[in-house]
Amino acid sequence: MSARQKITLLITAAGLFAALFFSGVTLWKMVDDQFDLIDDELKTLAKRALAACETAGPNHPEALDWLDHQPRWLVVSEAASGQVLYRSAQARRFELPNLPKKKITLRRVPVPDGLEIERDNLGRADFRVRCRFSDAGRLWACVARPLDDMQEEFWESVGEVALGLAVFVVVLLFASYVAAGFILRPLAALDRQAREISEAHLERRLPLTSAKDEFNALAATLNRVFDRLEHAFQRQKRLIADAAHELKTPLAVLRLTLHNIEMNAGEGERAELSGLMGQALRMERLVKSLLDLSILEAGDSIQREQVNVSEILVSLVSDYRLMAENGGIALHADVPEALTVSGDTDKLYRAFSNLLDNAVKYNRPNGEIRLTAQRKGRHIVALLTNTGPALPEEEAIKVFEPFYRVDKSRARELGGAGLGLAIVKRIVDLHGGRITIQGIAQDRIEVQVVLPAA
Ligand SMILES: Nc1ncnc2c1ncn2[C@@H]1O[C@H](COP(=O)(O)OP(=O)(O)O)[C@@H](O)[C@H]1O
Ligand SMILES: [Mg+2]
Repeated sequence: MSARQKITLLITAAGLFAALFFSGVTLWKMVDDQFDLIDDELKTLAKRALAACETAGPNHPEALDWLDHQPRWLVVSEAASGQVLYRSAQARRFELPNLPKKKITLRRVPVPDGLEIERDNLGRADFRVRCRFSDAGRLWACVARPLDDMQEEFWESVGEVALGLAVFVVVLLFASYVAAGFILRPLAALDRQAREISEAHLERRLPLTSAKDEFNALAATLNRVFDRLEHAFQRQKRLIADAAHELKTPLAVLRLTLHNIEMNAGEGERAELSGLMGQALRMERLVKSLLDLSILEAGDSIQREQVNVSEILVSLVSDYRLMAENGGIALHADVPEALTVSGDTDKLYRAFSNLLDNAVKYNRPNGEIRLTAQRKGRHIVALLTNTGPALPEEEAIKVFEPFYRVDKSRARELGGAGLGLAIVKRIVDLHGGRITIQGIAQDRIEVQVVLPAA
């Protein structure tokens, strides 16, 4: 789940919790107020019924007249004997049992037909009952009213609140999603910029603002991480460059000395010395490649001029043709004239030379090499295929890494240290181009170089 979704859910959950609490309190208050109103009404009615019964009797039988017009359940009795003095029309139809004296209660009782009281499917209805004594304590009255409309209103309100809550949740979800996006926007920008820096521009830094928020703190921390990374990278590169530089002269001296010794050596020692010289030469080549690679990696731009790639390729083909034919390899080239790019002639020469070198070196006897180049839109596309060992896809990405060789023993035998393609890739990158290598058949490898045309 994304951070945005999490924040959205959290805000919505908190909002829903608050809304539920608020609705609960409101509903409870609503019910409570309604009961207060009902209780007041019942109290007034009980008081008046008691007063009427006090004054009624043989002298004033009309005092009870208005009671008969009350639509409520009403019973007045003598407190001491319990003898009923008056029952309203409803009270004559059904009983409310076990009424406690001087109290407010709720009763659910069966109610007969025809009383305009709403009943449940078992024929029962809920009543609010209030009982009280007369002032002198001689009489006792109980008044009740059904809760039908109130219950209905309550459930109606609950329904409305639920609907309101549902709408509220939808609106809140939307609003919090927008808000979460707004909150996280700096983070998305930070992520994009940090990725750009880590992938391609380690020298750049994240922009800092004057805000004292967590995003700014994170950006500052990331900048410190980039500082250290860049420093470590540079130190590592410098170390390699320095080591290669320091090794260059002693190796040359060693080789020359071996050469001099070889000149004056006897027949028996000569073979051994020439083996040693071969090793020294290999080391010199490796050191030179290392130095070249570190120089190429240190710079991030090249000196550009109009370069005729066709000339470079044609000249390389004639250089390598002899070497290829010595190995029984046929070299076919199809390069049109005047393909030009803007770049560095020596570096491009070096890159294509490395590629042709590989195509010959890793070929098989009686194999072939095909080189084509053409302009495609705003690019020059050079395609070099050669027969050779299979190149699985997972190896194809790794061959551009320094010192990576597919078949180590064979490559070493052929004098390669695994730096050639790393150098080629760096040169192509510096020209703003692209290089890929892939096995296109069981025994065929294709290298494609795309360079922006001049
Ligand atoms: N044209 C090719 N055909 C077959 N294998 C190749 C080709 N080019 C490169 N490779 C493989 O990629 C590895 C890396 O190449 P590279 O960097 O030039 O190193 P090196 O030539 O010093 O061994 C080689 O060892 C070889 O296994
Ligand atoms: Mg090579």
